[in-house]
Amino acid sequence: MSPGRINRCICHNRMFAEIKRYSREHNITSVHELQEIGFCSTNCGLCIPYIKAMLETAETEFIPGNANQTTADAAE
Ligand code: FES
Repeated sequence: MSPGRINRCICHNRMFAEIKRYSREHNITSVHELQEIGFCSTNCGLCIPYIKAMLETAETEFIPGNANQTTADAAE
């Protein structure tokens, strides 16, 4: 993980890129669906806003505390 970047569900040890790939393969479009099958986001919930943003934007790395800002945004 890049220092200071959010790119995984820590509790389930799943990278957002893995979650994105799984979601696409199984036509999953919401965090709720991922939670129902226990894939991610069922413990502390800190990853939820980032995974929601990932499902909407396909970005997989975010600035801590701001799910609306990706690391690509920060580089601009
Ligand atoms: S980081 Fe995803 S549930 Fe805790």
